[in-house]
Amino acid sequence: MNVSEAVATRRSVRAYTDQPVSPEVLREVLANAARAPSGGNLQPWRIYALAGEPLTELKAAIRLRLRTRPTPPKPEYAVYPPSLSEPYRNQRFAIGEAMYALLGIPRENKLGRLQWIQNNFDFFGAPVGLMCFIDRQMGPPQWSDLGMYLQTVMLLLREHGLDSCAQEAWSLYHDTVREVLAPPDELMLFCGMAIGYADHAVPLDRLQSERAPLDAFATLRGC
Ligand SMILES: Cc1cc2nc3c(=O)[nH]c(=O)nc-3n(C[C@H](O)[C@H](O)[C@H](O)COP(=O)(O)O)c2cc1C
Repeated sequence: MNVSEAVATRRSVRAYTDQPVSPEVLREVLANAARAPSGGNLQPWRIYALAGEPLTELKAAIRLRLRTRPTPPKPEYAVYPPSLSEPYRNQRFAIGEAMYALLGIPRENKLGRLQWIQNNFDFFGAPVGLMCFIDRQMGPPQWSDLGMYLQTVMLLLREHGLDSCAQEAWSLYHDTVREVLAPPDELMLFCGMAIGYADHAVPLDRLQSERAPLDAFATLRGC
């Protein structure tokens, strides 16, 4: 697989088979992804990878949390700006509607949609989950570095036939993640990531997100 194929076939997968992920492959991908660039070579990514019993433990803790204390704590960062302007607002709306159409959950079924979102906290059935942290002293440039690391992980996974889904949803319950993983105080949770093999049998597997054309986001001058 070349880079273009990895880029073209990476997509956010929200349904997985229970086929396990080779620990050697996972280690290799997480290590090699650290070739991602970072300003000043700070390498600000801090990753916890969970499978087997530790993954079961986190899922059990979040299930209990959602059942007994569903109100999320104060967020550590805003996942989206408070009022999104166009075209961002519509792009967000479009992917949500495309997803719920395949799931067969209409807009009126607010409870159904809310319940489906809870699948985030099962890593959509994936056998591996990452928790991706960053030191609180870091600012937007280093958050961007972390993003580059995560995209490199997702592309390298494709080379091994693996799929993924980055998940900011986990940041909503940063307190429960902290209770279970006990990371150092200076680390704050950016997102989770589901990793595994896509379940091609479900309709949701057909979800294809759209992209704005080049002219909508790039200004090319002299090239
Ligand atoms: C940092 C980040 C966090 C995300 N968080 C979630 C999430 O919590 N739940 C989810 O279902 N998708 C999540 N996504 C997936 C996006 O919705 C997805 O990338 C976007 O709709 C484009 O689709 P594609 O990844 O299939 O190309 C996240 C993506 C990124 C990059």
